[in-house]
Amino acid sequence: MEKINVAIDGPAGSGKGTTAKGLAKKLNYKYLDTGAMYRSLALFLKRQGITKKEDFKEALLEGINISFDENNNVYLNGENVEEQIRSSEIGALSSDFASLPPVRRLLATKQKEIVKEKGYVAEGRDIGSVVIPDAEVKIYLDASLEVRAKRRYEDLVQRNKGKEPEDISFEELEKQLEERDKQDKGRADSPLLKVEDAIEVDTSECSIEEQIEKVYEIVLRKLLKK
Ligand code: DC
Repeated sequence: MEKINVAIDGPAGSGKGTTAKGLAKKLNYKYLDTGAMYRSLALFLKRQGITKKEDFKEALLEGINISFDENNNVYLNGENVEEQIRSSEIGALSSDFASLPPVRRLLATKQKEIVKEKGYVAEGRDIGSVVIPDAEVKIYLDASLEVRAKRRYEDLVQRNKGKEPEDISFEELEKQLEERDKQDKGRADSPLLKVEDAIEVDTSECSIEEQIEKVYEIVLRKLLKK
């Protein structure tokens, strides 16, 4: 069967990552985590001492190379940074830098190149609107703020080997997530939005399996119609 592209957008903690990964596996498609690219870029700038977007200059991006291996680990100039980019600090920084047009231009160009060959499940904030506006299936995932914050918190606990994170409380994380949504939806250049032709899936009440199944059915329907 001819391969298509699936675009998944939505706010932090809506389940984009798990859903996109699970869907790609079921379809035998490739998975593209565009957020990992924004996070790696934020780490690259942080390592140069840049933590405020006011200090950003396009020249700082010279020499940056972001790539993935076959297990979807992300590499920054050849170094596996998969663990380092998942902190809430890098999450917040990546959202700040993601509002800068040169940053978006650089990463969206690279992402468009990657998905050209089709057979991708790509997730992010501007996939259906900018990266793959002609995607055959577009999904907008959402969930209540509380559910999303709980998911992100459990994520951090898991990464911390089952211990409560020391640097952030649940309440702080919830506030941070709300801020990040506001920033991602409010920026002038390719904000997070539900495009007209996207199908909205609310995952507040869904288990991971149900979430994946719902989206899988939408894709199957499309594939069978083709
Ligand atoms: O999906 P994530 O939480 O890993 O993404 C981190 C940040 O990167 C997010 O807050 C906004 C930015 N981002 C973006 O602007 N566009 C994308 N396609 C993906 C992520």
